[in-house]
Amino acid sequence: MDVRILNTPEQIAVAAGEIFVRLVKENPKAKLGLATGASPVKMYQYLISQYENGYLDFSEVASYNLDEYCDLPRADKNSYYTFMHENLFSQINIKEEHVHLPNGNAADMDAECRRYDRLLADIGGVDVQLLGIGTNGHIGFNEPADAFTEGTYKVKLTDSTIRSNSIYFDEGKMPHYAVTMGVGTIMTAKKIVLIATGESKADAMRAMIRGEVTPHCPASILQTHPDAVIFMDKAAASKL
Ligand code: GLP
Repeated sequence: MDVRILNTPEQIAVAAGEIFVRLVKENPKAKLGLATGASPVKMYQYLISQYENGYLDFSEVASYNLDEYCDLPRADKNSYYTFMHENLFSQINIKEEHVHLPNGNAADMDAECRRYDRLLADIGGVDVQLLGIGTNGHIGFNEPADAFTEGTYKVKLTDSTIRSNSIYFDEGKMPHYAVTMGVGTIMTAKKIVLIATGESKADAMRAMIRGEVTPHCPASILQTHPDAVIFMDKAAASKL
């Protein structure tokens, strides 16, 4: 793991964003694995600024999101579909037909998971996968468990994740299930960029970097990825 500790979330946004900028410059048809949550928002703003100043063109870029809530309408303000459009897609020239997210409302969830895995297998894995991290070490929605997950699947969220994410929802409205790329799918990315800021992520950072590789901290698998870059601020790094 290439661990980079920077002073501020703004510096992280630029440093992580530059990896995406370079990739899209080199390959205008880059396949980007994207993530939701607060962690990537500033980096998305940096990408938007690079698009607005005419430096970046997303017209041939394709995106593949990590996860989506189940049983939440796609147009809901808290769906990851809405999040991605509000925070990035509506502000750059990516084509809607190049945007991919798993469908958390599919009637046949098994078929939907296989469809998403086939999509990712057909492109040979994304060129770069962006990740945030949950305070319990989850990546995507891969919660701590007794075994690492493989492909895309429907997951029951843990109480800890429901507590963390329910701040965005009206009382009792937070979905308890989600569909997520599995850890195995995430690991097929050619490069991984993880962003963690703030003290609430400090325990997860320590377990991910210093702990053993264990499904009880799903992010610890990144120790075995050949090209994983971890960006964190001083607060997130405070327990390393
Ligand atoms: C959610 C998402 C994860 C994200 C995590 C942390 O559970 N499924 O992909 O990494 O939240 O979010 P934040 O960046 O807001 O701390």
